[in-house]
Amino acid sequence: MSTFPDRPVAVLFSGGDSPGMNALLRAIARLGLNRHGVPVLGVREGYRGLLRAARRANRGEKDLFVMKQEIGSRKGRWGLIHSEQDVIQLDHASVSGIVGAGGTMLGSARCLEFKKPEVRAEAVKLIKDLGVRALIVAGGDGSLAGAQLLEKEAGVKVIGVPCTIDNDLLFTQMSIGVDTAVSTLVWAVDHFKDTARSHKRIMVMETMGAKHGELARLSAIASGAEMVITPENGPVTMPQILKLAETIKTGMVCGRSHTIVLVAEGVQFEPEHFVQGSDPSHLPTKRNRAYVLADIFQSYFHEQEGELKDLEVRPSVLGHLQRGGHATPQDCILAARFAQQAWEAIMDPNEGSGITALRQGRVQLVPFGAPDMPERAEMSAEFSRLHASLSSW
Ligand code: F6P
Repeated sequence: MSTFPDRPVAVLFSGGDSPGMNALLRAIARLGLNRHGVPVLGVREGYRGLLRAARRANRGEKDLFVMKQEIGSRKGRWGLIHSEQDVIQLDHASVSGIVGAGGTMLGSARCLEFKKPEVRAEAVKLIKDLGVRALIVAGGDGSLAGAQLLEKEAGVKVIGVPCTIDNDLLFTQMSIGVDTAVSTLVWAVDHFKDTARSHKRIMVMETMGAKHGELARLSAIASGAEMVITPENGPVTMPQILKLAETIKTGMVCGRSHTIVLVAEGVQFEPEHFVQGSDPSHLPTKRNRAYVLADIFQSYFHEQEGELKDLEVRPSVLGHLQRGGHATPQDCILAARFAQQAWEAIMDPNEGSGITALRQGRVQLVPFGAPDMPERAEMSAEFSRLHASLSSW
C-alpha cells in the first residue's frame, strides 16, 4: 500500500558526480509535480543511500511505518536538513535555485556491494514497500549497469540518465556534464598558456577520462592545445613518445611560443612506468600520465643542441576540479530534455525501461545494453583529424 496520493517516482544519483546533475533533479521534480501530478522521491547518496534506507525499513513493519511517516511529514527542505533521512519527498521549493549549481544536492556514491544480487534484493523490497512506480538512475556506466539489473529484479520501470564528464557512454552523442567539463578545461588551458608563453615552456596537462579520450579531444579542439594523447589506440610506446617529442620540437623550432599537451588519464604506456608508492606496503603506484610524459619529454630536450636544450617541461594534473563548477547552459538544457524523456517513458504504458540518449540531435529512449553508435567512433576519428589539421605547424 502506497503512503502517497499517487505512486511516486524515485530518483537517485550514482557514481562520480557531473555538473548538470542538479539541473536534472530540478527538472525531474518540477516535471513530475507540474506536468504529471506525480510525487517525486529523492534518494540520498545513490545506491548506498537506497540500501541504508532499505536496511532500516526492512527491520520490521514498525520501522517501515516510521519511515513512511517521516517521508510524508518531513517533505522537501525539511527532509533534506535531516541528514539521517535517506528518502525525501521533493517539493517545488526544495529544488529552487539549484538549476546550474555544481555537484549534486542529493549526494552521489559508488556502491560496490550493489553488485551482489542478495544486496539488491534488499533495495527491491523497499522499492515495493514504498509503492514506487518507477526509478530514475543518473550516472555513468557502472551506475547504469546497476540500473539494468534492478530493472529485471524490481518489476518497475527503471530509466537511466547518462551523466559523466568522460563522455564514454557510446550509445549517446552526449552525456550530462561533458560540456561544462570541456569549458573548465578550456579555462585551465588558457591559464596554462599564459604562464607557458611567458617562459617558453612545454606544459603537459592530464585530463580525466579513464577509458575514453573524448573529454581531452574536445577540450584540445576548443582550447587550441597543440597536442592531445588519448587511450583509444592502445598503449603508447617509447618510440611513439619520442616521435611526439620530435613533433613538439618542430613546432618550437618553427617559432611556437609554447606547447600545451593534453593527456587523458586512461592512457597506458608500454612498458608501463611505475614508481614505489609511499604507503607502508610499498605497492607499486601508477604514476600520473602527465608526470611520466613530462619526464620523458624533458630528457629528450636535455639531449638537444643549442636553445632547445634549455626548454623546460612542466606537468600538471587537473583532477577533480574538472567535475565541479556551475553547469553550462548546454548541460542544463540537456538535463531538462533528458528529464522530459524520462517522464514520457514512465507515463506511457506502452513504453518500457531504458536510457535517455541524444542521437542526431534528438532525445530518445534506448534499451539498456544498446550497442554503441557507430557515429561516435567516426566522430572521434574526425575530431582527431580535425585537431591534427588545426594544430600542426
Ligand atoms: O566520473 C568518471 C571519472 O571522472 C573518471 O574520469 C575518473 O577516473 C573517476 O571518475 C574518478 O573518480 P573518483 O571520484 O572515484 O576519484
